[in-house]
Amino acid sequence: MSAPLLQVESLAVRLQTAQGERAVVDDLSFAIDAGETLALVGESGSGKSQTALALMGLSARGARLGGRMLFDGEDLLSASAERRRQLRGPAMAMVFQDPMSSLNPYLSVGLQLAEVLETHRGATRGQALAEAECALDAVGLSAPRTRLAQYPHELSGGMRQRVMIAMAMLARPRLLIADEPTTALDPTVQRQILRLLERLRREQRMALLFITHDLGLVAEHCERVLVMYAGQVVESGATAQLLRRPRHPYTAALLNARPGAGTRPGTPLAALPGQPPDPRQMPPGCRFEPRCALRQADCRDPGLLWQSDAQGSRGWRCRHPLASRG
Ligand SMILES: Nc1ncnc2c1ncn2[C@@H]1O[C@H](COP(=O)(O)OP(=O)(O)O)[C@@H](O)[C@H]1O
Ligand SMILES: [Mg+2]
Repeated sequence: MSAPLLQVESLAVRLQTAQGERAVVDDLSFAIDAGETLALVGESGSGKSQTALALMGLSARGARLGGRMLFDGEDLLSASAERRRQLRGPAMAMVFQDPMSSLNPYLSVGLQLAEVLETHRGATRGQALAEAECALDAVGLSAPRTRLAQYPHELSGGMRQRVMIAMAMLARPRLLIADEPTTALDPTVQRQILRLLERLRREQRMALLFITHDLGLVAEHCERVLVMYAGQVVESGATAQLLRRPRHPYTAALLNARPGAGTRPGTPLAALPGQPPDPRQMPPGCRFEPRCALRQADCRDPGLLWQSDAQGSRGWRCRHPLASRG
């Protein structure tokens, strides 16, 4: 078997805060093959965006990263800042949740798209604008030539998200990280954007790391899922199997908390009772233990190890009915 496109091994991300250092991602391991779609799900604050930023080399100043991230065999953590810059775009690109935060409000859409091509492919301004127009057409924006001359604030949220995707795609990345790219959009536009990503993935054999709250979108679009809680993966596996038979009580709680039984797109993660743990006082054993309806005394055992089963669930030594269910 060939090596995966991206291999992450025991990634740790620690951020500097006013209260000292804080671990926001801990012992995170996963891999993505070329052309594959992997979903990353979990409640707000579970470390999904910090994982994405670490992959892109865009962690906040002062962040300390540990573990390994191999992109096509290349060790990202030991790469120079210059090398990381080169990789952003043609190797990996990211679409952020809020396109306004990553589009420059003072530059026309056309110039921002053209810049990608001028930087990564040495295109002339004329070539770049022509290709940018094609890209806007490809992401389903009407009147693409008119859009080129417009500024981000003149577009709707859905249009801006499409511009961001066009911008990411112009660099022809081998891995696209989409961080809740559709959360702010209405369900129809969400579906259109997902279909677009799907098509680009097939046509360009692009790998997609799809970060979302929406289990319905996961069910429809992603082959495998990684469930994160409090900076760690609690469970991972093939989507259909994981949604049908969750192993970890956290995954089960997420699924049970959904309004209605379906996994239709537009079904967000419902709030679970209680709060995720304070990163400064992580539970010593299973981090979900304080909120877990199935907890047992030994779930607090700090010696608990990741016990991966066939589905890759973080099994904890506990004898949860779910975790041990065959
Ligand atoms: N710049 C930052 N400084 C300190 N802590 C941060 C910063 N950004 C995010 N965090 C914290 O890191 C944790 C993970 O955040 P994040 O990755 O954004 O979660 P998610 O994307 O899953 O909602 C949260 O506890 C959040 O409060
Ligand atoms: Mg986030």
